[in-house]
Formats: sequence, structure tokens, C-alpha cells
Amino acid sequence: MRIGVPKEIKNNEFRVGITPEAVKTLISQGHLVSVENNAGVGSGFSNNDYIKVGASIASYPKEVYQYNDMIIKVKEPLSEEFELIKEGQLIYTFFHFASSASLTKAMIDHKAVCLAYETITDDKGGLPLLTPMSEVAGRLASQQGAKFLESPQGGLGVLMGGVSGVSPADVMILGGGVVGTQAALVAAGMGADVTIYDINPNRIEELQAIMPKNVTTCLSSSDTIEKHLSKAHLVIGAVLVPGAKAPKLITRKQLRIMQKGAVLVDVAVDQGGCFETTQATTHENPTYVVDDILHYAVANMPGAVPQTSTKALTNVTIDYAVKLASLGWQNACKQYPHLANGLNIVHGKVVHHSVAEAFSLPFTPIEKIL
Ligand SMILES: NC(=O)c1ccc[n+]([C@@H]2O[C@H](COP(=O)([O-])OP(=O)(O)OC[C@H]3O[C@@H](n4cnc5c(N)ncnc54)[C@H](O)[C@@H]3O)[C@@H](O)[C@H]2O)c1
Repeated sequence: MRIGVPKEIKNNEFRVGITPEAVKTLISQGHLVSVENNAGVGSGFSNNDYIKVGASIASYPKEVYQYNDMIIKVKEPLSEEFELIKEGQLIYTFFHFASSASLTKAMIDHKAVCLAYETITDDKGGLPLLTPMSEVAGRLASQQGAKFLESPQGGLGVLMGGVSGVSPADVMILGGGVVGTQAALVAAGMGADVTIYDINPNRIEELQAIMPKNVTTCLSSSDTIEKHLSKAHLVIGAVLVPGAKAPKLITRKQLRIMQKGAVLVDVAVDQGGCFETTQATTHENPTYVVDDILHYAVANMPGAVPQTSTKALTNVTIDYAVKLASLGWQNACKQYPHLANGLNIVHGKVVHHSVAEAFSLPFTPIEKIL
């Protein structure tokens, strides 16, 4: 199969869809890989690194899309890329459709085959291709939260760990999955007083067993969250209902309960955000203020640490990339039902129920396509 890897164009996105090592694996199986000029530079890989393992270098994005059957990316296509996508082309990347009606419409109109990393499943009920990026984003969420709690950054001026005789920061984490767990571990490691909220009692039990002493767990409800808000310094939004829009757990009205300069970090922004006042931001301008509360809502947080993130992402995407290239997407999805769960839009039809629900679009069961 001919495989194309474009350079990411999202603001401050330095990751690339594939490492040279993974390109070598594809090429050893007889596939052709074309990487856009300097696509890997932000992640520490030169054109020469790709050439050495047998890839060719494409000068323009148009070349990457025009001559290849499968595109391997990191982030969702942006409007400049919509026109480049060919009918029937397989796009293997993060899409997060529920947060963008325009992206959903464009992929339906272009009749692409959209295989979304974030809805591919595993036997344990997890989302294995989302997990490494969630680990990165979770750890970064507490790092960023700590920074923006500083007064010169606009925060209320509280040190995460406090000092002798002064209490540490109070950190609320909404959602105790991968992001929430990693955010809690880093915040707790910095010495903060952390509470994780989740709706799943089993998850609460698991977390309680593994977390350090300065982390408490709590069953999530609008009441338990509201009661805590007045003392929280930092709130990290880390909930997920796979494929669907994130539930809104803090309303604009509730911001008034909070202390001025408190910080909200919405990691769930890629699924529309779990605070009513969330608006996606970029690494260039990561924060904004609503009613005296500082908001951080960067939708591609792992893009800030590309050397870590590109390797972590490719580690989990390459196996299915090889299967897709060797078998073709239809046979690969027939053989591997967890991979088939990644199909969101195929030839103009929405085949993921949560995406259909998010925009009240007709839903076509995947069995009708395969
Ligand atoms: N901004 C970024 O750069 C970035 C990077 C990676 C992941 N993410 C996003 O972070 C979010 C979390 O990802 P994850 O991998 O941790 O998901 P996950 O499935 O591992 O965890 C989500 C948790 O949220 C809980 N939950 C669901 N509804 C809830 C509610 N109403 N109250 C409390 N908890 C609730 C679930 O029980 C689950 O434990 C996703 O939207 C993901 O796409 C964003």
C-alpha cells in the first residue's frame, strides 16, 4: 500500500504521525511510505532519518494526499486539508468528531474512510490508542495548572505543595480515568491536596487502593462537585464518554462560587469540554479569563512535548497501521473488531453511534459497510 504522512499544521503541533523506526517496519512488509518535507523535525527526526529507512520525501501536502491510499496523521484534518482528501482515502488519525460539526460535515462530503484513534477499543474496555496521549496530557495538566496558579500568569498565587506551616493547593480532578490518574499522581507528587471525582464506583475503589495519602476519591455528582468548588484552587476536567460530547460538569453560574484567580484546566476540550465556559485554545494563547476564573483549554496538549508524544503514539498505532496496510481497511476491520470500532465515518455514512447522536445524523451500523 502507498502510505502518506503529512506535516501537522495545527497551532504549535510538533508531533508527526510516524517515527522512522515504524516507517522501517512498514517498508520491510513491502509498503511505500512518503513523508512530507520536514514533517518530523519538531519530534527530532530529519528528512534524512526517514530516507535512511527507505521513505521518500514529498515537497507539498498536496503530493502526500494525491498519491497515497492511506494517510497517517496525529491531529484531525483542518479546513486547509479538507480539499486534499480523496474519495475513499483511508485517514488514520485522531478526529474527535463530536467537538466539530464542520469537520464531521467535511469528512462526510469528501467520502473519506475515517478511522479514529480515540474510539479503537481493547478487550479490557480501554481505548489503547488514546491512552498514551492521555497519560501525557494528564501529567501536563498538573504541570500547566501549577504554572498558571502563579500570580504573574494570572492565577491566584498558590504554590501546589505549600510550605511548612502553609497548606498546599486544593486540586479537584473530574474523571478518574487515564488523564485523571496521571494528573492526580503529578499533583500529589508536587504535594497538593487532591480529590478525584468519578461516576464509576468500581473505578473509585481501584483509585482509592493505588493513590498516595494526599489523594481522596469521591463519587461524582452535581452536588458533590458544587460543594467543593469554593475551596478549590485548581480544577482539572478529565471526563470521557467515548465518542460523545463531554458532559458539562461546571456551569458559568458556578464560577461565582470559586475563588478569584482559581484555575480550570479542561483536558476534555477535544470532546467539547466539560465546563460550560470552555473554549478551545492553542499553545500560543493557552488561557483566557471568564468571571475572574483562569481557563486553560489546549486541545493538543501532547503536541508541546513531541519528542515524548510521537514515540508514545507510534508505539500504539503501528500494529494496526501494518494490519491496515497489509490487509486493506475492510479486511483488517473484519478480522479485528476492536479496530472496526475506530471507524467513525465511511464513504459519507456515519458509522459511530456517538458521532451520529452528537449531530442528530443518520446512523449506519458498521456491519452494513463491512
Ligand atoms: N486536550 C488534550 O490534549 C487531550 C489529550 C489526551 C486526552 N484528552 C481527552 O481527555 C479526556 C479524558 O481521557 P481519558 O483517556 O482519561 O478517558 P478515560 O475513559 O480513561 O477516563 C474518563 C473517566 O471519566 C469518567 N466520567 C465520565 N463521566 C463522568 C462524570 N459525569 N463525572 C465524573 N467522571 C466521569 C469515567 O468514568 C472515566 O473514569 C478525553 O476527552 C480525551 O479525549 C485530551
